[in-house]
Amino acid sequence: MPHLLAPSLLSADFAELGNAVRLIEESEAAWHHIDVMDGVFVPNISFGLPVIKSIRKHAKKPFDVHLMIVEPDKYITAFRDAGADILTVHYEACTHLHRSIQAIKAAGMKAGVAINPHTSVELLADVLADVDVVCLMSVNPGFGGQKFIERTYGKIEALKAIRIRTGSKALIEIDGGVGTENAEQLLATGADVLVAGNSVFGAADPRAAIAVLAS
Ligand code: DX5
Ligand code: ZN
Repeated sequence: MPHLLAPSLLSADFAELGNAVRLIEESEAAWHHIDVMDGVFVPNISFGLPVIKSIRKHAKKPFDVHLMIVEPDKYITAFRDAGADILTVHYEACTHLHRSIQAIKAAGMKAGVAINPHTSVELLADVLADVDVVCLMSVNPGFGGQKFIERTYGKIEALKAIRIRTGSKALIEIDGGVGTENAEQLLATGADVLVAGNSVFGAADPRAAIAVLAS
């Protein structure tokens, strides 16, 4: 399967958010990656439901919504209504992760689970068959433009083995510090989806950056 690119709107100029969305729509990118932060689960606050609802009108491609919030269960249907197609919750934020995954799917979305750099992929084994996307955080969540954590390659390998063992079809998504310097090796190791914030919207030519990272 060819890989998917999901540019992260977190690194876009929020005063020009509509233009960033249209840029993704007209590009080779597959998904919009949308980072929601609450200032509690992560030490930063980004944007939330009304912003997603506004930009949804300007987009046809799937919205890959990454919730970096505590108590995500409270907001599952609200994010569905705002326009999320894939809703990703953090393993570390869910006491009853299996229930959260089922609730996301019952709401009609694809279910994603993200894990922080310190969390072992082995902890996902018992839910992996029910998960559509595993988001491996390759930085500590909260900010764009951070340095890629090299240990991520080993986590991709380990996750691939668990995927085979459990019969899961989950896509492996890499989030944080992804750019032209590591994209090729990530894909060769087994990444299915690359998230790219700073390496797209921080580039002199974001359109060209998407073309390179999506190919
Ligand atoms: C980090 C977010 C990422 C972020 C990635 O907490 O989950 O999606 O936007 O940004 P870059 O690609 O700049 O590391
Ligand atoms: Zn993200």
